[in-house]
Amino acid sequence: LERTFSIIKPDATERNLTGAINAVIEKASLRIVAQKRILLTRAQAEQFYAVHSARPFFGELVDFMISGPVVVQVLEGEDAIATYREVMGATNPENAAEGTIRKLFAKSVGENSVHGSDSPEAAQVEIAQFFAGNEIVG
Ligand code: GTP
Ligand code: MG
Repeated sequence: LERTFSIIKPDATERNLTGAINAVIEKASLRIVAQKRILLTRAQAEQFYAVHSARPFFGELVDFMISGPVVVQVLEGEDAIATYREVMGATNPENAAEGTIRKLFAKSVGENSVHGSDSPEAAQVEIAQFFAGNEIVG
């Protein structure tokens, strides 16, 4: 079994969609093995999205990620990283497939409701940024 890191973003928590998103996650046979609702600090958001620091939307992205609560999660399952990327849908909800989280709930390419790790290396780094080993219960 593989683990991936997920964030339910502020546009979704603001609309009380945590449970609806978790239902889609669980229906895809991903198990939520760790979860907490937090406010990211600016430093945490900048660190998390550091790979995008040169992109023109970086400031907007960081401001958005600290604009309200997020729910950080560890998801476990068969091919969890690829499975969750599929369940999330395309970054821009206009391009997202029917039934995906972003098609169902995202507001725009920026306010797109969820994050999911894009590689095993990223998953490991991202999980370690937010969870101690004993906070993950598989
Ligand atoms: P994440 O799972 O959040 O990493 O999304 P992703 O892997 O589908 O997209 P990517 O890593 O390319 O971009 C990271 C995040 O930056 C996206 O999820 C969006 O929230 C934001 N983003 C990407 N492109 C744009 C853009 O053109 N404008 C704005 N405002 N935000 C963007
Ligand atoms: Mg990404």
